[in-house]
Amino acid sequence: MTEKEAILARHTVRNYQDKPIAPETVRLIEEKIRELNEISGLHLQFVAEAGNTYNRFMNKTMGLSTAPSVIACVGPDEENLDQEIGYYGEKLVLYLQTLGLNTCWAGMFNKKGLTAEIREGERLVITIAVGYGKDQGRQHRSKSIEQVTEGKAERPEWFTEGAKMALLAPTAINQQKFLIRLNDDDTVDFIDRKGPFSQVDLGIVKCHFDIGAERKSL
Ligand SMILES: Cc1cc2nc3c(=O)[nH]c(=O)nc-3n(C[C@H](O)[C@H](O)[C@H](O)COP(=O)(O)O)c2cc1C
Repeated sequence: MTEKEAILARHTVRNYQDKPIAPETVRLIEEKIRELNEISGLHLQFVAEAGNTYNRFMNKTMGLSTAPSVIACVGPDEENLDQEIGYYGEKLVLYLQTLGLNTCWAGMFNKKGLTAEIREGERLVITIAVGYGKDQGRQHRSKSIEQVTEGKAERPEWFTEGAKMALLAPTAINQQKFLIRLNDDDTVDFIDRKGPFSQVDLGIVKCHFDIGAERKSL
């Protein structure tokens, strides 16, 4: 499965089977995390036992408390941290999809219930629930390309492909508060229209855009 196929197949899943992730699969996840941390300087971590991470009332109502494992999204507390977490966290989400796993980005969780390592100068930004879903989720409602893009009228194919993939990106409460601008010199700007976790969203959006456009934004 390619990253593009993973984008098309992935939807948020909040209800999981009572089944731990297979040891051979855990090994692959940890290998991928090592690779992404090396490229990005982040400190993403696989936490096998979700424990009480998702024991908040809303988590339980939505079903997330059934998730067996968690990705703790930690990194150096610098200006671009949220976007970096979004970009590389989504790379990991798409890889997990190729392994037959399901995921849910989760900004709402119980910090005390999560056994992640947060070193001096680091910050825990968000979590990603991971496990074998009870189903594969479903396609989110989406804005149109016109609503999330602006700039040069003549659109190259790569830009349109990037924007299409960006519209499939998960965003907090499905807000899709981003704008992708094509400048006259064919450079691209990503604009944050501000909302909860919108900088994480923007990183995820850049990740999807890059896969569609076959380029590198971060
Ligand atoms: C940054 C971010 C934070 C999120 N936080 C939560 C959360 O706390 N609880 C939850 O159930 N879903 C959460 N979600 C999942 C979104 O609701 C979901 O991605 C969105 O509705 C789009 O659906 P899709 O992922 O199937 O495309 C979050 C998603 C993102 C990107």
